[in-house]
Amino acid sequence: MLDIRKDGDPVLRKVAKPVAKIDENALKLAAEMIKTMYEADGVGLAAPQVGESIRLVVFDVGDGPVTMFNPVVTDSDGLLECEERCLSVPGKYAFIARPETVEVKYLDRSGKHCKVKGDGLLGRCLQHELDHLDGKLYTDLAKEVFTDEKAKGPVKGRSR
Ligand code: NI
Repeated sequence: MLDIRKDGDPVLRKVAKPVAKIDENALKLAAEMIKTMYEADGVGLAAPQVGESIRLVVFDVGDGPVTMFNPVVTDSDGLLECEERCLSVPGKYAFIARPETVEVKYLDRSGKHCKVKGDGLLGRCLQHELDHLDGKLYTDLAKEVFTDEKAKGPVKGRSR
Protein backbone atom coordinates (compact mmCIF):
# COMPACT_ATOMS: atom_id res chain seq x y z
CA MET A 1 0.00 0.00 0.00
CA LEU A 2 1.28 3.46 -0.91
CA ASP A 3 1.62 6.13 1.76
CA ILE A 4 -1.30 8.58 1.55
CA ARG A 5 -0.13 12.16 2.07
CA LYS A 6 -2.09 14.26 4.51
CA ASP A 7 -3.17 17.91 4.46
CA GLY A 8 -0.11 20.02 5.23
CA ASP A 9 2.16 18.01 2.90
CA PRO A 10 3.42 20.46 0.24
CA VAL A 11 2.96 17.93 -2.59
CA LEU A 12 -0.82 18.30 -2.17
CA ARG A 13 -0.48 22.01 -3.01
CA LYS A 14 1.57 21.71 -6.20
CA VAL A 15 0.12 21.93 -9.70
CA ALA A 16 0.81 18.47 -11.08
CA LYS A 17 2.64 17.90 -14.38
CA PRO A 18 0.99 16.26 -17.38
CA VAL A 19 1.89 12.63 -18.00
CA ALA A 20 4.08 12.81 -21.12
CA LYS A 21 4.09 9.09 -21.80
CA ILE A 22 1.84 6.33 -20.51
CA ASP A 23 4.62 3.82 -19.98
CA GLU A 24 5.12 0.81 -17.73
CA ASN A 25 5.96 3.01 -14.73
CA ALA A 26 2.82 5.13 -15.10
CA LEU A 27 0.63 2.02 -15.41
CA LYS A 28 2.33 0.42 -12.41
CA LEU A 29 1.71 3.54 -10.32
CA ALA A 30 -1.96 3.58 -11.41
CA ALA A 31 -2.36 -0.07 -10.39
CA GLU A 32 -0.77 0.58 -6.99
CA MET A 33 -3.00 3.62 -6.50
CA ILE A 34 -6.11 1.52 -7.19
CA LYS A 35 -4.96 -1.06 -4.65
CA THR A 36 -4.25 1.68 -2.09
CA MET A 37 -7.64 3.30 -2.75
CA TYR A 38 -9.47 0.03 -2.08
CA GLU A 39 -7.40 -0.72 1.02
CA ALA A 40 -8.22 2.74 2.38
CA ASP A 41 -11.92 2.24 1.47
CA GLY A 42 -11.80 5.34 -0.74
CA VAL A 43 -13.81 6.26 -3.83
CA GLY A 44 -10.95 7.97 -5.62
CA LEU A 45 -7.30 8.84 -5.39
CA ALA A 46 -5.12 11.36 -7.24
CA ALA A 47 -1.38 10.86 -7.79
CA PRO A 48 -0.34 13.87 -5.64
CA GLN A 49 -2.04 12.11 -2.71
CA VAL A 50 0.63 9.42 -2.93
CA GLY A 51 3.43 11.93 -3.43
CA GLU A 52 3.59 11.85 -7.25
CA SER A 53 2.96 15.28 -8.75
CA ILE A 54 1.57 14.06 -12.09
CA ARG A 55 -1.86 14.33 -13.71
CA LEU A 56 -3.20 10.86 -12.94
CA VAL A 57 -6.35 9.92 -11.05
CA VAL A 58 -8.08 6.64 -10.25
CA PHE A 59 -11.57 6.07 -8.89
CA ASP A 60 -14.35 3.54 -8.53
CA VAL A 61 -17.87 4.86 -8.06
CA GLY A 62 -19.30 1.34 -8.17
CA ASP A 63 -18.67 0.34 -11.78
CA GLY A 64 -15.10 -0.92 -11.34
CA PRO A 65 -11.79 0.93 -11.32
CA VAL A 66 -11.17 3.74 -13.81
CA THR A 67 -7.76 5.26 -14.59
CA MET A 68 -7.47 8.72 -16.15
CA PHE A 69 -4.32 10.37 -17.43
CA ASN A 70 -4.29 14.14 -18.06
CA PRO A 71 -8.03 14.62 -17.38
CA VAL A 72 -9.57 18.01 -18.20
CA VAL A 73 -13.06 19.35 -17.48
CA THR A 74 -14.49 20.42 -20.85
CA ASP A 75 -18.05 21.28 -19.81
CA SER A 76 -20.14 21.64 -16.68
CA ASP A 77 -23.75 22.29 -15.81
CA GLY A 78 -25.99 22.87 -12.81
CA LEU A 79 -25.12 23.29 -9.15
CA LEU A 80 -25.39 20.82 -6.30
CA GLU A 81 -24.30 20.81 -2.67
CA CYS A 82 -22.88 17.46 -1.50
CA GLU A 83 -20.94 16.03 1.39
CA GLU A 84 -17.26 15.53 0.60
CA ARG A 85 -14.46 13.71 2.35
CA CYS A 86 -10.85 13.16 1.40
CA LEU A 87 -8.30 10.48 2.28
CA SER A 88 -5.79 13.32 2.74
CA VAL A 89 -8.03 15.07 5.28
CA PRO A 90 -9.01 12.17 7.57
CA GLY A 91 -11.85 12.50 10.02
CA LYS A 92 -13.31 15.61 8.39
CA TYR A 93 -16.14 16.42 6.02
CA ALA A 94 -17.91 19.42 4.56
CA PHE A 95 -20.81 20.29 2.28
CA ILE A 96 -19.51 21.67 -0.99
CA ALA A 97 -21.39 23.31 -3.84
CA ARG A 98 -20.10 22.37 -7.29
CA PRO A 99 -21.54 21.90 -10.77
CA GLU A 100 -23.87 18.90 -10.82
CA THR A 101 -22.70 17.52 -14.15
CA VAL A 102 -19.26 17.64 -15.73
CA GLU A 103 -17.78 16.42 -18.97
CA VAL A 104 -14.18 15.27 -18.74
CA LYS A 105 -11.72 14.40 -21.48
CA TYR A 106 -8.77 12.15 -20.63
CA LEU A 107 -6.42 9.46 -21.87
CA ASP A 108 -7.11 5.90 -20.79
CA ARG A 109 -4.56 3.21 -19.91
CA SER A 110 -3.83 2.54 -23.58
CA GLY A 111 -3.43 6.25 -24.38
CA LYS A 112 -6.75 6.46 -26.17
CA HIS A 113 -8.65 9.79 -26.08
CA CYS A 114 -11.83 9.33 -24.06
CA LYS A 115 -14.70 11.46 -22.85
CA VAL A 116 -17.11 10.90 -19.99
CA LYS A 117 -20.10 12.84 -18.73
CA GLY A 118 -20.82 12.40 -15.05
CA ASP A 119 -23.40 13.54 -12.54
CA GLY A 120 -24.18 12.27 -9.05
CA LEU A 121 -21.30 10.52 -7.33
CA LEU A 122 -19.28 10.31 -10.57
CA GLY A 123 -19.59 14.04 -11.25
CA ARG A 124 -18.60 14.85 -7.70
CA CYS A 125 -15.70 12.40 -7.69
CA LEU A 126 -14.30 13.70 -10.99
CA GLN A 127 -14.26 17.29 -9.75
CA HIS A 128 -12.77 16.38 -6.39
CA GLU A 129 -9.97 14.30 -7.96
CA LEU A 130 -9.19 16.82 -10.69
CA ASP A 131 -8.88 19.55 -8.06
CA HIS A 132 -6.10 17.50 -6.44
CA LEU A 133 -4.11 17.85 -9.70
CA ASP A 134 -4.24 21.63 -9.32
CA GLY A 135 -3.15 21.59 -5.71
CA LYS A 136 -6.64 22.18 -4.34
CA LEU A 137 -8.47 20.47 -1.49
CA TYR A 138 -12.23 20.48 -0.91
CA THR A 139 -11.63 22.29 2.36
CA ASP A 140 -10.60 25.34 0.30
CA LEU A 141 -14.21 25.56 -0.93
CA ALA A 142 -15.88 24.83 2.40
CA LYS A 143 -17.77 27.40 4.41
CA GLU A 144 -17.34 25.12 7.41
CA VAL A 145 -15.38 21.89 7.90
CA PHE A 146 -16.85 19.37 10.32
CA THR A 147 -15.06 16.76 12.42
CA ASP A 148 -16.39 13.23 12.79
CA GLU A 149 -17.55 12.40 16.24
CA LYS A 150 -16.99 8.70 16.64
CA ALA A 151 -19.40 8.47 19.58
CA LYS A 152 -22.27 9.22 17.21
CA GLY A 153 -21.90 5.95 15.35
CA PRO A 154 -20.25 4.67 12.20
CA VAL A 155 -19.07 7.05 9.53
CA LYS A 156 -21.33 6.82 6.51
CA GLY A 157 -19.51 8.77 3.83
CA ARG A 158 -16.50 7.47 1.95
CA SER A 159 -13.41 9.44 1.16
CA ARG A 160 -11.72 10.48 -2.04
NI1 NI B 1 -9.31 13.87 -1.97
